[in-house]
Amino acid sequence: MIRLADIPVGEGRAYDVDGELVAVFHLRDGTVKAVSGICPHAGGPLADGLTDLRQVVCPLHQHAFDLSTGCSTTGQPDLTVYPSTVDEEGHVVVSSRTSRSV
Ligand code: FES
Repeated sequence: MIRLADIPVGEGRAYDVDGELVAVFHLRDGTVKAVSGICPHAGGPLADGLTDLRQVVCPLHQHAFDLSTGCSTTGQPDLTVYPSTVDEEGHVVVSSRTSRSV
């Protein structure tokens, strides 16, 4: 179980959620977003990508994906978006097939 505070602001970290690699981002406005952790272009580590409040840019070949919709803005297949929240104790909760804290 991780706390949002364990992820530096503006960065992402990868976690296994029910057998799926999920990239969880702590955005600069204090919110959390979670998307597929593996880039559909060529398998890049999206948790290491650059983010603003709207998108993540893959570190390998700079394809970009909207963090709210998962849609690629550079012509790649879309990412899965995982609904994510932070509970009262500051733990990140990511919803996949079953909601769970990561
Ligand atoms: S692997 Fe992500 S852009 Fe190529």
